[in-house]
Amino acid sequence: MSFQEIRQAPSRLNRSELAVPGSRVELFEKAAKSAVDVIFLDLEDAVAPDAKPQARKNIIQALNDIDWNGKTVSVRINGLDTHYAYRDLVDVLEGAPDKLDLVMIPKVGTAADVYAVDMLITQIETATKAKKRIGLEMIIESALGMANIDAIAGASKRNESLHFGVADYAASIKAKTVDIGGPHPDYGVLTAKDDSGKRDYFWADPWHYAISRLVVAARSNGLRAVDGPFGDFSDADGFRAQANRALVLGCEGKWAIHPSQVGLANDVFGLKEEEVKKARRIIEAMAQAQKEGKGAVALDGKLIDNASIKQAQVLVQMAERAGLKA
Ligand code: COA
Ligand code: MG
Repeated sequence: MSFQEIRQAPSRLNRSELAVPGSRVELFEKAAKSAVDVIFLDLEDAVAPDAKPQARKNIIQALNDIDWNGKTVSVRINGLDTHYAYRDLVDVLEGAPDKLDLVMIPKVGTAADVYAVDMLITQIETATKAKKRIGLEMIIESALGMANIDAIAGASKRNESLHFGVADYAASIKAKTVDIGGPHPDYGVLTAKDDSGKRDYFWADPWHYAISRLVVAARSNGLRAVDGPFGDFSDADGFRAQANRALVLGCEGKWAIHPSQVGLANDVFGLKEEEVKKARRIIEAMAQAQKEGKGAVALDGKLIDNASIKQAQVLVQMAERAGLKA
């Protein structure tokens, strides 16, 4: 282990995160009653420019009036290159003090972007004598953001999570896409010929690097890594496949752009009973080995290494958190 200690962001369930346009008030209650872990009320790209002032008012009223059933609630502000962003922060945080959990910064490009938002939130929290401290979610969705990702991830003590915004990212790096967050038929590998001259073509994941890079930046700063949207909400199998690959690469949740994707994300990123059972047995075996003064831990005739013990501890912690929520 390095001597450097990684400060961990406050822990929250973040298996699913539902996008709810701030202009569609009829969706707010539905989101609050859904099974989603995190709701982000959007002021950015799902809201037309003319609708932004009203969307802000809708969100302030909803934060004050709606029972969010213990869910984490976030607001996605507009980009810092627009003239909407300052008012998004000032109006929402002053209009609904101590209600919001997180602020989501879209298209974050540099550590200074995070610094600027932190500064403004800190002033508002001080002025309103807020008791709740707002956390930050950052969407990595540009070449600049990806180039500066480590500095962004470490830019504020408010930072909680990094999110992969695949659609804007593709546009920014001039990549080719078919469906938002899906694979591309031209991104694959053609195998060498076998003895009969036959070749296979396998589709590969064009977002592998971006997600892995994001996971490294998040984890090395104690943050959650969350995969972004999958556009075709009629394709449950497609969503599940992309969510599973994000899980395998180290993400702990995925966005839902439609309520039908919430259950899928909760399922993929949820805890599997068998895994939790095994993790508890590993921790028991470790405690037993310690009691007996043994250095090495064995379970079912196999040596358990330190990394597996760490993973087991994380899993059991998550299970306890999920249990607390239920
Ligand atoms: N949050 C909560 N409820 C939602 C919802 C959301 N984001 N999207 C849809 N619903 C509700 C609908 O009101 C409907 O409820 P009902 O059964 O009581 O009538 C039900 O879920 C089914 O919705 P459906 O009719 O299939 O969808 P729609 O045509 O109303 O809306 C979208 C489809 C994609 C426009 C809508 O889901 C949406 O705006 N999603 C968020 C998109 C977004 O914010 N993108 C930016 C981030 S990438
Ligand atoms: Mg975007």
